[in-house]
Amino acid sequence: MRSELERSGTYWQTQEELTYGAMVAWRNNARCIGRLNWQKLHVRDMRALSTAQDIFTALVEHIRLATNRGKIQSMITIFAPQSPGDAGIRIWNPQLIRYAGYRQADGCVVGDPLHIELTEAVQRLGWLGAQGGAFDLLPIVIQMPGHAPEIFELPRDCILEVTLSHPEFSWFADLGLKWHALPVISNMRLEIGGISYTAAPFNGWYMGTEIGARNLGDVERYNLLPCIARAMGLETHSDRTLWKDRALVELNRAVLHSFELAGVTIIDHHTAARQFMHHEKYERQAGRNLYADWGWIVPPMSGSTTPVFHTPTKTASLHLISFIRTIPGRNNVPGPATL
Ligand code: ARG
Repeated sequence: MRSELERSGTYWQTQEELTYGAMVAWRNNARCIGRLNWQKLHVRDMRALSTAQDIFTALVEHIRLATNRGKIQSMITIFAPQSPGDAGIRIWNPQLIRYAGYRQADGCVVGDPLHIELTEAVQRLGWLGAQGGAFDLLPIVIQMPGHAPEIFELPRDCILEVTLSHPEFSWFADLGLKWHALPVISNMRLEIGGISYTAAPFNGWYMGTEIGARNLGDVERYNLLPCIARAMGLETHSDRTLWKDRALVELNRAVLHSFELAGVTIIDHHTAARQFMHHEKYERQAGRNLYADWGWIVPPMSGSTTPVFHTPTKTASLHLISFIRTIPGRNNVPGPATL
């Protein structure tokens, strides 16, 4: 390895280094509550692929294998590392499966406001798939080092989605809501032993609140609480009626109920928090430091009802041999890489 490094300025890692490095990068991620499962990561070595088309084919395969008809498998697909002096392979999408966002003339947004910028960027690249709907699947943008970005439409049949209904409110299904089964993050850099993998998309399964409390609930996202509260007949004129809190609970019940009904893996935040406490214990027993970012680990609803709320955490994680992080300056912003 030393001589290779001296000769070429980089080195090619073994399959074992890649597999173990990816697991440890997950274990080191301070923001993830699901790390109990870090050894159950399926690692796919796709470093040999050299064209955007082949990479796209591998991404579709990743989606199919990880979705596994609803029994979701944690998976990472690792493409060729960044060579010294180049920008590395880049996937512009923050996740492989994302919904478009369209700004209307009156300032309102149809779809996911988080992806307005990406939607406009793919339209500039010539995307013709825009339907103007609330849940239009965005195409994938792959940029090989030193090349123009290329755009690919995902085959519909590889994307599993769950339509939302509520265990008691029959009107809920008429809201026409759904979400995708698989969260595959594709804008983070995996670093193992000094080698940078700028394209290494990975997935776990959803925790219900990611969809119910954030994606569908946030004012800056689908902002559905007012609509749900009105349908529930709540008094929305005063904050003190706690209409937001009540609507939030029912939206989150609908998410968990619907995924379960569809046979798609999902975890509730109470169970996830409990599993994280087990993880904390195992890490302590193994003599390792556990780094955790409290603001990310505590679920976005009912925080104090989960044990993690009451657990102080250490955030610093200097000198990690292997980690996975958002690429600086490129958080959901399509454009040239700034590493
Ligand atoms: N919060 C993101 C989303 O709602 C997904 C982040 C990764 N989540 C996971 N469960 N692995 O799409």
